[in-house]
Amino acid sequence: MKVGVIGSGGREHALCFSLKSSDKIKQIYCFPGNAGTSLIAKNIDININDFEKIKDFIIKNNINFVIVGPEKPLVDGIVDYLEKFNIKVFGPNKIASQLEGSKIFTKKICEKYKIPTAKFGIFSDTNTALSFLKNCNFPIVIKADGLAAGKGVYISENYNEASKAVDEIFNGKFGNAENLLIEEFLNGEEMSFFIISDGKSYKMFGTAQDHKRVFEGDKGKNTGGMGAYSPSRLETNDLNFKIINRIIEPTLKGLQELNCQYRGFLYAGLMIVNGDPFLIEYNVRMGDPECQTLLPKLKTDFSIVIDKCIQRKLHELDIEWHNDKSICIVLCSQGYPDTYTNHVEIDLKKLNLNKNQFIFHAGTKIVKNKILSNGGRVLNIVTRSNDFKSARQNSLKILEEINWKNGFYRKDIGYKVIQE
Ligand code: AMP
Ligand code: GLY
Repeated sequence: MKVGVIGSGGREHALCFSLKSSDKIKQIYCFPGNAGTSLIAKNIDININDFEKIKDFIIKNNINFVIVGPEKPLVDGIVDYLEKFNIKVFGPNKIASQLEGSKIFTKKICEKYKIPTAKFGIFSDTNTALSFLKNCNFPIVIKADGLAAGKGVYISENYNEASKAVDEIFNGKFGNAENLLIEEFLNGEEMSFFIISDGKSYKMFGTAQDHKRVFEGDKGKNTGGMGAYSPSRLETNDLNFKIINRIIEPTLKGLQELNCQYRGFLYAGLMIVNGDPFLIEYNVRMGDPECQTLLPKLKTDFSIVIDKCIQRKLHELDIEWHNDKSICIVLCSQGYPDTYTNHVEIDLKKLNLNKNQFIFHAGTKIVKNKILSNGGRVLNIVTRSNDFKSARQNSLKILEEINWKNGFYRKDIGYKVIQE
């Protein structure tokens, strides 16, 4: 089979890598990819917002199916567009992608189907939002509606911080904002919970714990994700059961009532409060860096998993996983998530990876046979091991070997699950 992967981050390199390990896959095309994907796939330099060019390339090259990595093309309707040309795509359509594209869409589904989530209000102008905030308990959460690339969420400790957040959102910091949400602050521990669905049936696809803050001890600004481990330390059969029954199934039912069958990965960002799950947000794709830490644990041929989904025969498959632990540490450019320098060389030639170690590129590109940095998050170093502690130690060893002077990384990924 010939397959396409849309996107250029660590998640997409991990998707290409998992496809590559299947003997059913003859050729992978990555749109537009990075230095890492170029080693195992053909990078195609087409802007992922240019659906027409992507469609022309897929048809011309007889690509059997395409996996869409990031949220933006999904929310913009790439699946609906490509399916009009009979192209097989793995990912949710435009209606279903509102689960990520519009926080208000998701909250309305939560309300209708009694899905546990933070109490919330929707506000369309500054004055009403501010007068509501005058009588609130703090901390409180303020969110821009719509996609904001992991930003656009404020946890405000007092009225002054909250009013600044309201001003920034309505002044267009995250794009044109017609509405914002003010939400109760949930005090618990976060967990990323994944399912994969073919539109008729679904299966669990693992759990993970992301580390969003830039500095050790979960301090500093929010980022796209500084590292992750899998499985989440909170995962139990009892909790899985609650998540499926209270959150996932009512959501899928809600979509069905909108005449929409969900096909793709669905990622529930949860807060677990005293053993009970609350939905914080949905993402209509794999997480990044959760994907990088999860996929190396997959035992079943990934191309078969996706192919079964495309044929709507996922129920025929038992998805098997390695039983060990996995940790991913992200190497970032100094200055991320603010300003940083690109085009700094990274030398990966002399590395000694063992068979349970993986490097997934994110912001990299190849120029004249050299790997150069090309983004804030640059590399993902993943190790699978019997325990989290040695998984982390071994990922850290690789980072020390890389010794990239322009970079930094968190040394404490997994600190809640590792006893020092
Ligand atoms: P989001 O982009 O919706 O994932 O939010 C970014 C981060 O803000 C989440 O990962 C949580 O750490 C935090 N957050 C969002 N909503 C809430 C909430 N209602 N209560 C507590 N923390 C929240
Ligand atoms: N790991 C956070 C995200 O993918 O949105």
